[in-house]
Amino acid sequence: MGIIYHQNSQELHLFNNQLSYIIKIQSNGELTNLYYGKRIHDKEDFSYLQPGDTRPLTVYQTKDSPHHSLQHVRREYPDYGRGDFRTPAYVIRQENGSRVTAFSYESHKIYRGKKPLEGLPATYTRNEEDADTLEIRLKDPVTEAVILLSYTVFCSLPVITRHVQIMNQGTQKLVLERALSASIDLPDSEYEMVYLTGAWARERHIRVRKPDHGISSIGSMRGASSAEYNPFFALKRPSATEDSGEVYGFCLIYSGNHLEQVEVDTEQSSRISIGIHPDTFEWPLNPQETFVSPEAVFVYTDQGLNAMSQTFHRLFKEHLMQSSWTDRERPVLINNWEATEMDFTEQKILEIAGTAKELGIELIVLDDGWFGGREDDTTGLGDWFVTNFDKLPDGIEGLSEKITALGLQFGLWFEPEMVNPGTKLYREHPDWILCPAERTPSPSRNQYVLDFSRKDVVDYIYGLMERVLSQAHISYVKWDMNRYITECYSIGTAADSQGKTFHKYILGVYSLYEKLTRRFPDILFESCASGGARFDPGILYYAPQAWTSDDTDAIERIKIQYGTSLVYPVSSMGAHVSEVPNLQTGRSTPLKTRADVAMFGAFGYELDITAMSREEKDAVREQIAFVKEHRLLLQHGTFYRLKSPFQENASAWMMVSPNRKEAIVGYYNLLGTPNCRFDRLYLRGLNPDNAYHINSSAETYYGDELMHAGIPIPHTGVCESNVDFSSFIFYLSVV
Ligand code: DGJ
Repeated sequence: MGIIYHQNSQELHLFNNQLSYIIKIQSNGELTNLYYGKRIHDKEDFSYLQPGDTRPLTVYQTKDSPHHSLQHVRREYPDYGRGDFRTPAYVIRQENGSRVTAFSYESHKIYRGKKPLEGLPATYTRNEEDADTLEIRLKDPVTEAVILLSYTVFCSLPVITRHVQIMNQGTQKLVLERALSASIDLPDSEYEMVYLTGAWARERHIRVRKPDHGISSIGSMRGASSAEYNPFFALKRPSATEDSGEVYGFCLIYSGNHLEQVEVDTEQSSRISIGIHPDTFEWPLNPQETFVSPEAVFVYTDQGLNAMSQTFHRLFKEHLMQSSWTDRERPVLINNWEATEMDFTEQKILEIAGTAKELGIELIVLDDGWFGGREDDTTGLGDWFVTNFDKLPDGIEGLSEKITALGLQFGLWFEPEMVNPGTKLYREHPDWILCPAERTPSPSRNQYVLDFSRKDVVDYIYGLMERVLSQAHISYVKWDMNRYITECYSIGTAADSQGKTFHKYILGVYSLYEKLTRRFPDILFESCASGGARFDPGILYYAPQAWTSDDTDAIERIKIQYGTSLVYPVSSMGAHVSEVPNLQTGRSTPLKTRADVAMFGAFGYELDITAMSREEKDAVREQIAFVKEHRLLLQHGTFYRLKSPFQENASAWMMVSPNRKEAIVGYYNLLGTPNCRFDRLYLRGLNPDNAYHINSSAETYYGDELMHAGIPIPHTGVCESNVDFSSFIFYLSVV
């Protein structure tokens, strides 16, 4: 693994044993990409890979070199206005109104390890040997601005991360109109674009489309990474499958407005752009100021989508999530939301807690409705203290004592970024919401967005939360965020800095997360945004799990969790067994199926367990015992998708232990089919030479047999039938 600089050819080769990434510094100082893909041998000179023919109607930087056509070379961080007519990575407006810049190579530096990104979540190394970093410094002679491109290549993962710093070292005031995190040009366009899309209650469904001439893009302008488009996409070869073929995965470690784009030009090359969404973004950069972009992650594999996902999962768990909970088994929890919503009393919560304890549950989460005047969603947000002592006679402190006395841990819900009218906060600080003073703010769920671009607002909320968390016995925080941002205007901020507000808002969210997670390092933070509307790598840096979706219907959850697994580890997906008929879909699925889906996640319950029959309680007790026995494997094994619910009438996935001696497979029938076919499920990731037992059967099966001959479904005697919404769990253990 390493980064080699070839002085004669002016080429930089970043590589590990899986990938190579080769940059050329052209003689005119332009940076071009010669290759990004499977590891190839290092050598001095790859310049034959540059497009080099002259073409009509092309603009050249110098008269004598066809390599100096910005339109045809593959560029590392493309500018605007000098002959590259594809999407630029950055645009800098100058005092005279010009947007033309000409940055060229000045120097570079290679070092072991990786530096943090100021104020932003980013991947990190645990020790210097984990990764090498290349920093390339470019300078524009007219503005004297400097661009620092950072590339980190990880040693044991097929990953390169990139980000950019733009520094104003001149004397004029510059304005960044666009400052993406990364751009790369691939030489052909034989790809399919795989991305995650949806809406509230159907987040992160997988879609695939073929990028062709022009632009294919996804993104968010909602102020949050969003339920609509996750900040991720992959380009896969059309023949690539879950288990084989070339895939390039890209994601942004960011929770605000984002853009992911592929532009195929008429010579069939593909430009990938990823970063903060440039629409409405505008960042004035005064002399001596620096702008730091979020970090983009590039994954390359020639072993299919499962390998890409496993790489993201490992990267996030080993080099992104900071929480002390990252690798730990997550407590089995009960959340009161779907059981009571805001209509609860302390007595009801204690009844749920008592039953929870009997069943083996370890943590109870008190959701929305405990603070201020909160009886419904019209008021209360912002007043993070108890005022209704009829509901909670001893406050949160007293309740937390009673819960911990039962031998349970206690968790609490907050929605720190929001305020309702009718609260103390709103009465005292009406100007703390995002909205120009002369406009009427648009409510969503009766609430407004606090101006987290302001430090005083963030500090005030920190003060309230710190008080509750330090006074009560709290082991878990659910941080919710239930609306997108409109009227994005910060009162008290200069007119020419309003284009900063969206990004500064997210920086404010990160700063609050940073302060709280530092102050309370043992608290398990779960992020939530009306379910999964802000499930992104940026948030995972602080909160190692997220509420995956408000849709807890088991069949819908198969799709949501399957799609989410494309990028995010199973341990990061909050997944609960809820009541039937399901609140979102009206569908009734068996209790077993609900648990069989939720156990591939941070497992819990979200229904009134006090109202369950004795049989149901017995079943729940067994489910919890099974999860506890296997949760290290279920939450922290290597995950394989086996059967897609987007393509078939059944779905399956599995977790394999690191030593491949154990595995757990989940198989789910969506709808039953009459006279169904003899289906087989081909397992993955096992040791071909190991013999495994399946569940309690005495018979043994070799790993190769299970992977290549497969398990017959449903006629093995292990599965009973094929009916709507049925599920099967296979536990494999080595003989
Ligand atoms: C939306 C969340 O996704 C739910 O789980 C619940 O916490 C509600 N908000 C509470 O308002």
